[in-house]
Amino acid sequence: MLVNDKIIKRSSSVRLSSLVFTTLIFLSSLGASAQDGEKLFKQNCATCHLPTEKALVGPGLKGITERAPSEEWIVKWVKNPDAMIASGDAYANEIKEYSPTAMTAFGYLADEEIIAIIDYVKNYAPPVEVTPVTAEGAAEVSDSGTLDEGTLRNVLIAIGGLLLVLVFILSSVRRSLTQLVSEKEGVDAPEELGTWGSITHWMATHRGWSGVTILVGTLLFLQWGVQDLMNIGVYQGYKPTQPIAFSHKIHAGQNGINCVYCHTGAEKGKHSNIPSLNVCMNCHTYVQEGPSGTEEIGKIYAALDYNPETKVYGDNPTPLEWVRVHNLPDLAYFNHSQHVVVGKIECQECHGAMEEMGVAEQHSPLTMGWCINCHRETSVQVTDNGYYEDMHERTPSWHDGDPVTVERIGGLECAKCHY
Ligand code: HEC
Ligand code: HEC
Ligand code: HEC
Ligand code: HEC
Ligand code: HEC
Ligand code: HEC
Repeated sequence: MLVNDKIIKRSSSVRLSSLVFTTLIFLSSLGASAQDGEKLFKQNCATCHLPTEKALVGPGLKGITERAPSEEWIVKWVKNPDAMIASGDAYANEIKEYSPTAMTAFGYLADEEIIAIIDYVKNYAPPVEVTPVTAEGAAEVSDSGTLDEGTLRNVLIAIGGLLLVLVFILSSVRRSLTQLVSEKEGVDAPEELGTWGSITHWMATHRGWSGVTILVGTLLFLQWGVQDLMNIGVYQGYKPTQPIAFSHKIHAGQNGINCVYCHTGAEKGKHSNIPSLNVCMNCHTYVQEGPSGTEEIGKIYAALDYNPETKVYGDNPTPLEWVRVHNLPDLAYFNHSQHVVVGKIECQECHGAMEEMGVAEQHSPLTMGWCINCHRETSVQVTDNGYYEDMHERTPSWHDGDPVTVERIGGLECAKCHY
């Protein structure tokens, strides 16, 4: 009886654990596809769609599986919207008027990938608001919690000043006391040295200590001075207030908008342009309210003299001047596409995690030493790079097995960076 009971228990627990196991596998596979769906969505769709009800360039995709005729229909639409419209499909023709911007065709996405995107949208839950708030709060705490060098120095100077004042007070008190005592005893006061006199007297009798003090003092002074000199013209961390509270965190981070969607120039030439307000209007014709309300987005409308209710542009636009964050002196030549396209360097290597910045700031020092260090350490991308493959073939000295750094292609020559 007892044995039987045990056997039954055991087999049911085996069944239970295998059930748990299969459920786990099932759930983890769900998790994986949801993740792929998210990534695919951010890469391909996020510039025009949100997974919520809110519209961007295209309609918000929440509830799409209930709206559209079928999942199959959605797959076909995403692969080729124009063909769907041309085929006379009723729903496609109903939505085609939605926006003057036509939806891109995604012929290269596999059916499963599109289904993964649909699953991601279906299961999308907006992130809980609390997280970013605490993250920012924490950043603020750690900001004020750490003493930066400047503050530390001021504190030291203040303490030094206080000590000096204390020495003066004490020594003058001591002087008056000695005088009082001598007067009372009717003895001549001992020879008065004065404060400066006592200091030199002390120094004369404590040569070792005073030597060390003078040496340490001089070294500290020099180090501070040199550091100040080296930091002239270095604006690392510069973070000016902008005329519109534009946030890279909201756009490049939370909404996954690609950097070059706005900064098209980075891949084309010397300068990364700042997008014109018309680019903003691709989305803000529809997105009229942000997490902090309508005021900041309203400034775009005000500058363009646009009426968001009637959707009509007036003829009185005022130019908007963004405050420049980065400012290389004119004597230096820097080219974005050389680094981004040919050198294949990520924006973040030089600009830091822009996608986490609420206010844009200068991440790197932008000094000559900074440019040169990277040119010494970084190899040029020779393979899969039409620009260099040919040159690599024709330059025997590059075949010695050492990495071909930027330095070796002439990246330390003065004239490369100076006109
Ligand atoms: C360039 C902008 C753009 C991109 C990128 C884009 N779409 Fe669209 N999408 C639109 C527009 C605009 C519409 C509305 C139809 C129209 O005006 O052509 C639309 C409509 C849709 C619809 C039908 C919506 C409805 O409410 O019935 C689906 C589904 C859809 N898109 C899915 C996707 C998916 C999935 C991706 C990414 C693989 C994607 N779209 C990428 C612009 C875009
Ligand atoms: C939706 C458009 C948009 C996207 C996407 C975007 N930016 Fe920006 N970016 C701007 C605007 C507008 C400014 C000017 C206002 C400011 O400084 O905040 C700017 C400023 C900057 C600056 C400072 C420019 C200066 O004045 O020196 C840098 C650097 C920058 N962006 C890099 C990036 C990187 C890297 C990404 C991708 C992670 C990115 N941006 C994505 C619109 C965008
Ligand atoms: C590809 C779409 C897109 C483009 C382009 C775009 N935005 Fe946005 N913007 C958004 C979305 C989405 C939100 C957030 C809406 C939300 O979360 O409620 C937003 C929010 C904002 C906010 C509100 C921030 C807050 O705290 O309330 C401002 C201001 C803003 N954008 C300015 C700009 C400016 C300036 C440009 C052009 C340089 C621009 N946006 C370009 C999609 C875009
Ligand atoms: C190798 C380092 C490096 C990389 C990589 C890089 N930048 Fe820059 N960026 C700079 C420097 C240096 C400046 C200052 C240029 C100046 O003042 O002339 C700058 C300036 C900018 C500016 C201000 C406008 C301008 O051109 O002066 C923007 C916007 C910008 N970068 C965006 C980007 C984006 C977006 C990417 C990625 C696609 C990127 N950067 C990649 C170094 C870099
Ligand atoms: C993150 C690393 C990095 C930083 C920082 C950097 N560069 Fe470069 N730079 C490269 C790479 C990699 C190349 C090689 C690109 C190529 O293959 O042509 C390059 C190439 C160049 C070239 C062309 C050299 C040649 O011989 O053709 C110039 C000019 C240049 N950089 C200027 C600058 C200046 C000016 C700065 C600082 C403001 C700077 N770079 C900062 C990585 C960097
Ligand atoms: C990889 C790019 C690069 C190379 C190579 C380079 N420089 Fe520079 N140089 C810069 C940048 C960027 C600045 C501006 C930095 C600043 O103001 O802090 C600069 C600044 C200077 C300045 C002005 C310093 C000041 O404080 O205003 C002088 C002088 C100078 N460089 C000389 C040279 C000489 C000489 C060479 C060759 C041996 C050389 N540079 C090679 C990028 C370079």
